[in-house]
Amino acid sequence: MDTIKVNFENGIDQVEILKAAQILKDGGVVAFPTETVYGLGADALNEEAVQKIFRAKGRPQDNPLIIHVVEEDLSAYVQEVPPKAQMLMDTFWPGPLTIILKKTDLVPLKTSAGLDTVGVRMPENDTAKALIKAFGGPIAAPSANISGRPSPTNYRRCVEDLDGLVDMILGDGNAIVGLESTIVDYSVEPPRLLRPGFVTLEDLRKVDGSMVYDEAKTRAQEEEIPKAPGMKYRHYAPKAPMTLFLGAAKDVEEAVLQEMEKELLLGKTVGVFAPEERKTVYNNKNIIFVSMGKEEDLADISRNLFEGLRCFDDHGVEVILSEGFPEVGVAQAIMNRLKKASAFNIVEV
Ligand code: TXA
Ligand code: MG
Repeated sequence: MDTIKVNFENGIDQVEILKAAQILKDGGVVAFPTETVYGLGADALNEEAVQKIFRAKGRPQDNPLIIHVVEEDLSAYVQEVPPKAQMLMDTFWPGPLTIILKKTDLVPLKTSAGLDTVGVRMPENDTAKALIKAFGGPIAAPSANISGRPSPTNYRRCVEDLDGLVDMILGDGNAIVGLESTIVDYSVEPPRLLRPGFVTLEDLRKVDGSMVYDEAKTRAQEEEIPKAPGMKYRHYAPKAPMTLFLGAAKDVEEAVLQEMEKELLLGKTVGVFAPEERKTVYNNKNIIFVSMGKEEDLADISRNLFEGLRCFDDHGVEVILSEGFPEVGVAQAIMNRLKKASAFNIVEV
């Protein structure tokens, strides 16, 4: 398929937005930027269109899609909005927060992958907002990567994965958040955090103190039953196997250096993933060092994370050694993605 590709380098071009909206109305698929990661969109209420998303991404059919809106009135798509969920919307929308609620029959089971719930998000990015507005309805959109790959956070990575597989790709620079939205489930009581993101557990609890997050339980359920089915697959993964090192900075450093030497002796192409400041520590011309961003700036690390993971593939790296962080604030989301990228191959030192 010929993919129409448009990168807004000098602001949004409304003519192209209208073209993209028409493609969606005709049941096509369009990749577009959001503030979290790029998404692959289709008419959320059109089963055939939604099916094209699954096909293009190679996404398992039991993995539900979230829908993107620009209007606060959700009454057509969800049965009810609990008061606390409403307060979260008032606080964080538009922004990187997805709320799962009981869906109405208008939302096809294809979109929700057979579940009686649907995730709803109001994105903040101008191109995303213009597209949803021009389309005039909810857009179903998972991250715009081939299933299992790190989510694309810029136009180039989107094209890399989806050129020839989708009708149109829109671009407008780097996603400013860089991690997929925080997902909370209000179809259960008490509400649960299912996927940590830039809106942190602490942020959520300031609005709703009853919010529960049980990482081990969430992970176990993800692997067993289709609550958040997307998470049972190896996710966000670069091609090379990755090991994640956790512990005190000095110990981590030592362990990574040791492992690095070992793999180099085996003739492997070794990649090291760590904050910028650590570059001097892993100063070895035989390895590929990829910077996560500034150590003290978790927003910077969030923004760079997926692009960094993809850089290892560009260099044909065979083994990736990554530093981890104490899981406070946004680092909880960063660690969630790193653990998945490593397929939980974690060394505690
Ligand atoms: O930031 C984001 O959320 C991006 C942008 C494009 O908006 N989208 C995104 O979608 O990350 P996706 O499909 O890659 O991740 C959504 C996750 C999946 O793991 C899916 O299984 C889970 O949300 N999910 C979707 N609907 C659900 C539901 N009704 N119940 C439980 N989990 C659900
Ligand atoms: Mg995804």
